[in-house]
Amino acid sequence: MAQTVAVIGVQWGDEGKGKIVDALSAQADAVVRFQGGHNAGHTLVIDDEEIVLHLVPAGIMHEQVTGYIGNGVVLSLESLDAEIEEIRQKIGDPCNRLRISEDCSLLLPSHVALDQAREEAKGKKAIGTTGRGIGPAYEDKIARRGLRVHDLMSGSELVDKVKELLDYHNFQLKHYYKAETLDAKRVTDDLLARAEWMHSMFADTSREILACIQSGNKVLFEGAQGVMLDIDHGTYPFVTSSNTGIGAIATGAGVPVSSVQYTLGIAKAYATRVGSGPFPTEDSTDAGRVIATRGHEFGATTGRPRRCGWFDAVLARRAHKQNNFNGLCLTKLDVLDTLEEIPICTAYRINGEVQTETSIGAFQLENCRPIYETLPGWKVSTRGITNYEQLPSNAKSYIERISELSEVPVDFVSTGPGRQDMIQLNSVFD
Ligand code: GDP
Ligand code: IMO
Ligand code: MG
Repeated sequence: MAQTVAVIGVQWGDEGKGKIVDALSAQADAVVRFQGGHNAGHTLVIDDEEIVLHLVPAGIMHEQVTGYIGNGVVLSLESLDAEIEEIRQKIGDPCNRLRISEDCSLLLPSHVALDQAREEAKGKKAIGTTGRGIGPAYEDKIARRGLRVHDLMSGSELVDKVKELLDYHNFQLKHYYKAETLDAKRVTDDLLARAEWMHSMFADTSREILACIQSGNKVLFEGAQGVMLDIDHGTYPFVTSSNTGIGAIATGAGVPVSSVQYTLGIAKAYATRVGSGPFPTEDSTDAGRVIATRGHEFGATTGRPRRCGWFDAVLARRAHKQNNFNGLCLTKLDVLDTLEEIPICTAYRINGEVQTETSIGAFQLENCRPIYETLPGWKVSTRGITNYEQLPSNAKSYIERISELSEVPVDFVSTGPGRQDMIQLNSVFD
């Protein structure tokens, strides 16, 4: 039982983090995004109505929740604007419950143009990014030439700052990529227009989150992407440009590393991946297609079909060792309902040898051949089940085997996209 909880994706993103964050937020006072940007697509289904959130924390649909966009996020004001408008239409204006770090790096339209130009230039070797400008925005942050939210308050200096950065971006776009350039004045005017109505949300979010924890409020940290997409520990170079694991909370929200009392790893009961890069358990046969169809496996941000495969316990164990999950939430169990049998990857054959551990760079993973253990399917519907005892015994055996192989207790099982479709085996918040 905890006062501060983190939700972290265990695989390649899209594990169902949004749904779980929404469900846990019923008990939370604050929900914090700390990395990534609008490459994230977190789907909530409330009373059969779907909403996909990209930057706004998924707890926002609960009216007692304050949503924080921490300094580690790369922020597109244009995307945030559109998202706030969508939320406004669904539940009313969320702005008085939304706080945005003054230290967030700004993601500009020229970052989007650069991302897309780079992917196009790479041709077959493309990473398959979401095309949202995430990589270029983080590059500018690390290179110390990026703009931050507080620069929006710098009056006439902003004009010069944007021009300097746009000159650099436009030079690359025009001369290296032979792509369209952007007009610095237009970019500045758009930023200023949005900053004018958004400025009341800009805040020292690190201080506010710390005060929130100090006063005993319940805080939920919402990860984006998943640990296999981590810039350091994922399938590099086929990764995103931020750290996606537990460590990113300290740097991306401005809180001590000891701030999280309970870490929940979210994993699908199988596996998916969008974009390029190694995926050892990928299944391109009919069984893989059954998952894709039943799981509606299309990207929430880009609509691209997701690649589908089997639960990989080698990678899950690795993720657990690096993040120290207190519990797992296994999602989309219902998607497997019709299968005769279900493989789980328990080890890899690497250069002829059986190994139960591997490092995860693309280079290392490309040489791994999965070794499977096959469990019998249950062949009845688990959709919407909320009580563990009501699950068919083969489904329970499957869940228990995943827990055993991953070395983490399964504390939640998700049995449908809706807010209520969940089995809770353990309490998380106090
Ligand atoms: P996120 O990025 O981790 O928040 O996940 P996404 O929203 O991108 O993708 C998860 C998809 O699966 C969404 O369409 C959810 O509505 C859906 N989903 C989540 N949990 C379940 C579940 O237990 N069963 C089924 N069938 N769908 C689910
Ligand atoms: P959520 O939070 C799944 C993938 C992209 C690509 C790689 C790099 O919804 O789980 P980027 O645009 O970040 O430079 O793309 O990372 N990717 C995701 N895949 N879910 C996500 O977010 C993702 N965010 C990025 O498909 O392979
Ligand atoms: Mg997603």
